[in-house]
Order: sequence, then structure tokens, then C-alpha cells
Amino acid sequence: MKREAQVALLRELFSYYEARGTAQAERVMRNPVSAYTDVARWQEERRILFGGAHPLFVGLSCLVPNIGDYRVETVDKLPVLLTRDRDGGIKAFANICSHRGAPVAQGEGTTRAFVCPYHGWCYGTDGRLLSISDEKAFPGVEREKLHLKRLPAAEKHGMIFVQPRVLEDGETGSIDIDRHMGGMQAELAPFDFASYSHFRSERFPVAMNWKFVIDTFLESYHIAFLHKETVAPIFHSNLSGANSYGLHCRMTALRKAATDLRQKPDAEWGATPLKHAIVLYTLFPSSMFIFQADHVETWRVMPSTEKPDECMVDFGFYIPEPASDEKAVKYWNKNFDLAVKTVQAEDFTIGAQMQKAFHSGAQQEVIYGRNEAALIHFHASVRQALGLPAL
Ligand code: FES
Ligand SMILES: [Fe+2]
Repeated sequence: MKREAQVALLRELFSYYEARGTAQAERVMRNPVSAYTDVARWQEERRILFGGAHPLFVGLSCLVPNIGDYRVETVDKLPVLLTRDRDGGIKAFANICSHRGAPVAQGEGTTRAFVCPYHGWCYGTDGRLLSISDEKAFPGVEREKLHLKRLPAAEKHGMIFVQPRVLEDGETGSIDIDRHMGGMQAELAPFDFASYSHFRSERFPVAMNWKFVIDTFLESYHIAFLHKETVAPIFHSNLSGANSYGLHCRMTALRKAATDLRQKPDAEWGATPLKHAIVLYTLFPSSMFIFQADHVETWRVMPSTEKPDECMVDFGFYIPEPASDEKAVKYWNKNFDLAVKTVQAEDFTIGAQMQKAFHSGAQQEVIYGRNEAALIHFHASVRQALGLPAL
């Protein structure tokens, strides 16, 4: 984000502070509790949002920085293998061996080829089947037709996206990322995410519907109450900007330590005024991208394949320079653990209780206030993408 835009963003937050206000949605939204519990609704979301039609954000480019690097992901039922091929580009495949279906790679690493652990069939980082062990036992089996199945994948502005569906014959697999981002890329491109380093990621299950996890991030209304001891001393509560970019949105909040800056000319707000705020972007349907003062966090949420009441959360942590010594590693680990611990102990603990109570039948709907504008935009976007009427 350019400095003028950062100044404007901060000015907006200062104006809310002065007016004791926050961004306002046009009206209150009431969402049936079934949006979080209904089996048919969850299946429809998996099919339409996670079934291949929507590009899904995977992470920053530094997840697979060098030629030969790879990383394994799972999107809904599809095991995904991401590689940086010899041409330097990102490729995505179904992580499924053409022989009998074993995963050809695990975790992450660097390799020149993937040797399937089951019977040793060997694939290049471009997905081509290079060799079949004891090939003479497979007469009539054509190697050229048994490459790993390609998925659409793209890398732009230092970010990686995948569409979780197998390409049809003749399809190129390119994704128009700028069209997908709906204008948000103009803000994100100047951050130069391609230069960031991946510090650490952690994946853990959460006993909440996937949308509910996103809800916990999209409003600052709860800070003073749920995070009284942890986040509230750092950020103003119930004070946020909210902007939309097609189905995606941006939410901002103000650091308390920066409150007095409003009385100084913006020339004195530093080279990166954004450091005085927190900026969260949603990457529809289920990723969040948070620009913190000195690092970037990604929160990616995948619905469970078992039931609506569970999901898998992947927390990624990226830093501007690689952590070069023990002191730096210790500092970033502390930040990482604090972020995970706070959401797990506070947001996800009460969230799991609420998710259970949604099934009690005692409550028919949840209410999003006008002060929860980004949250309202998110649920309106989900309904729009599912072809459901606006609430
Ligand atoms: S399943 Fe991969 S070589 Fe047999
Ligand atoms: Fe929270």
C-alpha cells in the first residue's frame, strides 16, 4: 500500500476515534443459525466455494521459494502438491500417483523428482511421469498419459493461488488473479510480498463451522470484552474501517499507542504509517491476510469433510527478513505462539461452545450489528457466491 493510502487509512481511523464511532454497514443483518449447522448448506459451500470454481489463496511465494521446492496441501478431499518447476513457475498437481493413488510427496522440501513411496514410480517437478519401475510388466500402459494431474495455479504480487480441480485436456490452467482480486491488488502489490520469508506455519482443527472462525476476525467490537487482558490493551475496541473489493474485504483497527499521532502532521507518522494500525484482508472464500506492524500473518480456513461443525485452520507467519540468528528466531516464535494461544484460548474456546449451542434449537438466528460491517460483507458475499438471496 502506498504511503498516501496508508495516511488516508489512518486518518479514517482517527476520525472514528474523535467521533467515538466506527464504520457502519447499511443495516443490521440477521443470519439463520442453520448457516453454521445445516448439512445441506455445508455440502453446497464445499461444492461451490471449495470445489474448484474459486481460486484459493495458498500463501506467499516464499512457501516454495526456489526451483525444486514443493509443499503438500489438502483442499477439501483433494490432496494438492505445489511445486516450483525448473522454469521458475508455480505448478499444482493432485498429489495422487497414477499407478494406484498413493501420495507422491509429504510435507515440504526440495527435490529433483518425486518417487512414489509405494512402488517407486518417478515424477518430475513438472508432473511428468519419468519412469515406471519394472516397466516391462506394464505392456500397453503409456507413460505419456500418466503424468500427475494438473490443477489451475497462479502466482502474482508475491501470492500463490490454486483452483482445487483437475484440468481438462487442453486447458492452460492460468488464473486471472487481478480480476479475482477485484481491485485489492493495487493495495497489496506495493508491499512486495515476493521478498518476504516464510517463518513458520501450523495447522490445527477447530470445533467451529469454517465461517465462524472467519467471523471472529472480522470485527473489533469484541476486543474490549473477550480480549480484555490480551488484545484490548493494544488495540481500540469497536473502532474499525471496512472496505469491500468484490467478494473480498478489508478491515482495519487502530493501535492505542498511536492515538496521539492524530495531533501531529502526517509527515511525522513515519515511513510506514500502517504500522500504527492492523489491516486485515479477506481473500474470498476463506483466507485472511493480516498486515501486522512488523510481519504478515495468514489464516486459512478449510471446512471439515466430515461435518459442518468443524474446520481446519492453517496459520502462516511471514517476516520481511529471514530470521538469521537465535535471538530473531526466539522473538518470532514468541509472536507466533502468542497469536495462536490468544485465538485458541479466547476466540475458539467460546466459539466452540457457541457452535454446540447452535444445535440446541433455542436460537434461530445470529445478529450482526451495523458496527460489524466487514462481517456483514463476508456473509453477504458467501450468500451471493452460493446464489442465495440477500438477507
Ligand atoms: S501407487 Fe505409486 S507407484 Fe504404486
Ligand atoms: Fe478475537
